[in-house]
Amino acid sequence: MPAFRALLALAFTSIVYAAPLGGGISVSVRSNSYSADGTFYAPGLGACGKTNSSNQLIVAVGHAVFDSYPGAALHPQNPNKNPICGKKLKATYGQKSVTVTVEDRCAGCPGAADLDFTEAGFRKLAALGVGRIHGVKWEWVI
Ligand SMILES: *[C@@H]1O[C@H](CO)[C@@H](O)[C@H](O)[C@H]1NC(C)=O
Repeated sequence: MPAFRALLALAFTSIVYAAPLGGGISVSVRSNSYSADGTFYAPGLGACGKTNSSNQLIVAVGHAVFDSYPGAALHPQNPNKNPICGKKLKATYGQKSVTVTVEDRCAGCPGAADLDFTEAGFRKLAALGVGRIHGVKWEWVI
């Protein structure tokens, strides 16, 4: 069924174009979802130009995803203007999930799509004492 196959190819093509990431990142780009580590930090003035605190549900996204977000390259000197700023993502760990707003770039995150939460955000997924959680699934909230 060549027609069906062509349709399938088309579907995949459009999904790839709709993905928020440029090339080079291999984490499930097609499905627009990621698996990453989660940690927490004490935010201050973030890369997006806002000052946030530990009790707010903001997140710092791994530098690789932050820097390759569509439109990010238009403002290489000013991350405040990265269109990723203000985007919401839903992170799930086991049975728990939290929706957070991107306000920062995680320079020290080893994984492309790692998430550095505030204490408030991390606590929605695991006890703070755990420190680092693996296999956090996340996706953009449209
Ligand atoms: C982050 O900080 C900015 C400015 O201080 C504020 O407007 C915004 O609501 C904060 N974000 C969240 C999720 O609390």
